[in-house]
Amino acid sequence: MGAMPDPTDADTNAAIWKSEEVARTFAAQSEQREQQRREQLTLVARLLPFGPDDAFTFLDLGAGTGAASRAILAEYPRASAILGEYSPQMTAEGTRAMSAFDGRFRYVELDMLAPDWSLVGPAPLDAAVSALSIHHMPDDRKRAIFGEVYAQLRPGGWYVNFDPIRAPDTEKGLEAIWERVNDRYDPQAPHARTHRTAQEQARYENHIRYMIPLQPQLEWLRAAGFTNVDVFWKRLDWVIYGGSKPL
Ligand SMILES: C[S@@+](CC[C@H](N)C(=O)[O-])C[C@H]1O[C@@H](n2cnc3c(N)ncnc32)[C@H](O)[C@@H]1O
Repeated sequence: MGAMPDPTDADTNAAIWKSEEVARTFAAQSEQREQQRREQLTLVARLLPFGPDDAFTFLDLGAGTGAASRAILAEYPRASAILGEYSPQMTAEGTRAMSAFDGRFRYVELDMLAPDWSLVGPAPLDAAVSALSIHHMPDDRKRAIFGEVYAQLRPGGWYVNFDPIRAPDTEKGLEAIWERVNDRYDPQAPHARTHRTAQEQARYENHIRYMIPLQPQLEWLRAAGFTNVDVFWKRLDWVIYGGSKPL
């Protein structure tokens, strides 16, 4: 078993995600969380500009156990997924969770901090998505990844990201409003916040470490060359945004 992360580390991300215990917990909770995210994962899939009979290949960055990939593969029966992931523990859990799609997906070892894009393959990607992974990157990597994804896409290809955000620094009080409203939807949340296990606390600290407001991320997409950049969905601190590479 991997060591439990020490929350006082400067960056606990790798220790957390490369822990068998965290991967197992994440996988055990994935069905419930996928149900809670169903509408959003379906929207990520439907934003991709394909018909039900189109064959295409997409990359899922920071794929984890494959929630976004499963939503897209279910929506498009002829699509194939490349799941980019750097944690062997998450990859092992995901390979099991993806078994209904055997033959239509492959995991590649991709560290978003220093990706070897040659592992993704020589062909330009038709689309790329990410869910709950970009917010784990320091800002310089968030920005760079958008440019790197752009370079991997074929002209006309889309990139869609589903992620949590922070309120803008200028909007004092907004995060408290988001929390109050979120708590109305999840009445257990206030108790859960004040009764975290050590693992939950470490994961929470890791979850928020590099989380930032929305606007710079949209600007970085545009700076990378993406057009049709939009926030396609937003609910409090959760967003789906993306754009396309011009033809
Ligand atoms: C919150 S999980 C989300 C997983 C999945 N995308 C989902 O929506 O269920 C974050 C994932 O990002 C992965 N991740 C974090 N840092 C990474 C990095 N530097 N390179 C590749 N994957 C990374 C983790 O291993 C983990 O699987």
